[in-house]
Parts: sequence; structure tokens; C-alpha cells
Amino acid sequence: MLKRRVTTWIYRLVIESPRAHELMLQLYTGSEGFHHRFPWFNRPELVDDPELQLLMRQHFADEDNHAKYFKLALTLRGNPVSPTPIELDYLLVLAAGFWDAKILVGETIEELTSEKLFTIRQNLFVQLAFKDLSEKKAIDEFHIWRDLAKTREPETYAILKRVVEDEDWHVKIFDEQVHKMMADPVHGPELRGVYKRLVKEARRLSDRTGSNFLHHLLDHGLLTAAKPWELRLVRLLATLQGAGKGVVPLASAKLLATLEDKGFFDRHSEIVKTA
Ligand SMILES: [Fe+2]
Ligand SMILES: [Fe+2]
Repeated sequence: MLKRRVTTWIYRLVIESPRAHELMLQLYTGSEGFHHRFPWFNRPELVDDPELQLLMRQHFADEDNHAKYFKLALTLRGNPVSPTPIELDYLLVLAAGFWDAKILVGETIEELTSEKLFTIRQNLFVQLAFKDLSEKKAIDEFHIWRDLAKTREPETYAILKRVVEDEDWHVKIFDEQVHKMMADPVHGPELRGVYKRLVKEARRLSDRTGSNFLHHLLDHGLLTAAKPWELRLVRLLATLQGAGKGVVPLASAKLLATLEDKGFFDRHSEIVKTA
């Protein structure tokens, strides 16, 4: 409950500070289009189970729409759609963290993008759990953001209202898939062990990138709506959130970023230029 109140307070400060809110829109645009930015994540054709393959395709179709809505929100505000600093990019950092910890299996990037990606059962499981965990993290934030936007940012509210309806469904389907794999009598015990490590790493990196985000807001003077005492409290919170949480796996994250479809951002810049 306290965590929710703190998150609501931070989101209120962000939404009432125009440049901070734009940064948040940029971050979410990148997250919604994650499967375009990182092709290793977008290989549903390699999944044997036709029902699961269809669910994955439906999910990406929804995320395509979400990315378009967020891009539109930035365009309407006159902002280009550009990548955010790697240390704030939670999904990228999460993928890199899983790879470094060998939770995601592959010695080279080629192994993570080849036709053999899902011949290792663990890689399919990790991708589903990756979606499950990141959707769960996003859904709480989306609900808070949507409710705050209702009176403060009607355009953003209209977008979030649509997005939240889809995300509620995504959480449900990926949670089911992850638990179905973990209930398998043969492979379940091993996957449950993987899940424990994966949840721990996801929590660490969520705290780490969350702390980086707050420090970034403060260091760049983006929280213009915050009172002096609130800025001091945000700094304390940022320090506490990042304490003992290790480092962001920057080297692997940079390597994964080389796979990024640059067009995801560039195409939009052209739209902005000609608009
Ligand atoms: Fe989404
Ligand atoms: Fe989603």
C-alpha cells in the first residue's frame, strides 16, 4: 500500500512536469515497441504450439497499436520519438541481465536470433516469463498513470484507457502460460528453479532502473512541478531504491541494442519533419 502511494506521488510529479512527462512517454514508446527493436524477441514463427504462437502474435499486434498511440502522443506535443538512455531502458536491461545470468541461454547474439532459439525450452519459458513480469510491472503503473491523467492530461488519458484494457488481458494470458510450463511433470521442477532466479533478477533491475530514472529526473532538472522538500525526498528515495542493487549490465545491453530496428525511431522522425 505504501509502495502504491509513493508511486502515485512520483507519477503525479512527473505528469505535472512537462519535460519529465515527455521522458516517460519516450520510455513507454520504446517498451511498447520492444519486439521491433529487438528481433530475438519477435520470433513467434519458431514456436511449435499453434495456440501459443497465435497468442504471441496477438500480443505483438496489440503492442504495435500501443507503440503507435504513444508515438502519436509525442507527435502531438511536438516531440521527436527518440531512444532513451540505456540505463533507464528497463526491458533492454532486463534482457541483458537475463542473458548475463545465463537465465536466457545463448553464448552469442546469433544464438538468440537463430532458428534454434526455442529448441532450448528454457528460452521459450524465459520469453514468456519476461512478458509476464514486465506486463505485471507495467499494469500497476498504467492504472496509476491513467487515473492521474484523467483530469491533468486528457489526451494521454484517452491513450492509457485503451492500453490498459489490453494489458489486463496480456497479464492474464502470460501468467497462465508460465504456470502451465512450470506445472509440467517432467520439465516443471527445473523451470521453477529458473523462475525463482529470474524474479530475483527482475526485481533487482526494476529497482536499479527505477533509481536511475529518479536520478535522471533530478540531475536534469525535469521535475519542475516538485517543491524543494519534494525534490529532497525524491533524491532520498532514489538513493534508497538503488542501494545494494548492483549495477546495470551495460555491456550486454549495448550489444543487444545493436539489434535494434533503428527505423522504429527514425521513421517517426521523418513523420515529425513533414508534419
Ligand atoms: Fe502494451
Ligand atoms: Fe502488453
